Amino acid sequence: MTAQIIDGKKIAGELLQKLKEEISQRKIDGVRSPCLAVLLIGDNPASEVYVRNKKIACEKIGIKSISVDLRSDVSEEEVLTIVKKLNDDNTVDGILVQSPLPAHVDEKLVIEAISPNKDVDGFHPLNIGLLAIKRPKLRSCTPYGVIKMLKTLNVDLVGMNATVVGASNNVGRPMALELLLENCTVTMCNSKTKNLESKVNQADLLVVAAGIKNLVKGEWIKQDAIVIDIGINRVDGKLVGDVEFSVAKEKASFITPVPGGVGPMTVATLMENTLLAQKLS
Ligand code: GUN
Repeated sequence: MTAQIIDGKKIAGELLQKLKEEISQRKIDGVRSPCLAVLLIGDNPASEVYVRNKKIACEKIGIKSISVDLRSDVSEEEVLTIVKKLNDDNTVDGILVQSPLPAHVDEKLVIEAISPNKDVDGFHPLNIGLLAIKRPKLRSCTPYGVIKMLKTLNVDLVGMNATVVGASNNVGRPMALELLLENCTVTMCNSKTKNLESKVNQADLLVVAAGIKNLVKGEWIKQDAIVIDIGINRVDGKLVGDVEFSVAKEKASFITPVPGGVGPMTVATLMENTLLAQKLS
């Protein structure tokens, strides 16, 4: 049977609508709009698109966004000074520094400079640590968005064999922590994993975030597995994921498309985090 396609755009739209209503009610109650500062360094076309989508979402639901656009030759010191200023600004609730950063700016230093309570990306070591010890606060947007998406499927995640392919700090690792929090039995795969096919084939729930087009062959998928594809790869001007979608959809019970799957959930979760950051301040 062909898989049910998970409509991330629709699920994200419903979340955004709820957030819009809550923000609107808070304004009636005298609370100012949440405010997100977005730092974009250089002119990476993909980053420009991502940042534009985030600002459009802010505008749609009543979050104020502040753009800090910096030249690619901005010094690391200047970036850190700007972050510190935004940390001290009581009218700013969330700070997002779009990655990738230019090679001369140390991403680790920049992330650690953001106040943990304004870290709406959920990348700060304190926020990752809180997730690891089952006390999540500001959670990494993409993995948390995936969990929100899974919750709409009305399937019991407890005890599921979940395999995560890709072990990045920003996606794969927090994804595994989120799945542990849901009481899944989690297998993590990385670029050195031996016999990836067997690890994929044992997964009732497969999450792929490797950034390699068609890395996971459709025939590897376990019958009726849930397949979440976080990869975004550009091929001949078109976006494709990390999973061989056309074959995988014939084996999976549910599958996310690329585009229109996880991507919109990341943006919606960022909006939720910005509202949460305001509540934390
Ligand atoms: N670059 C690609 N995705 C993201 C994201 O979710 N947050 C940030 N800060 N940069 C990104």
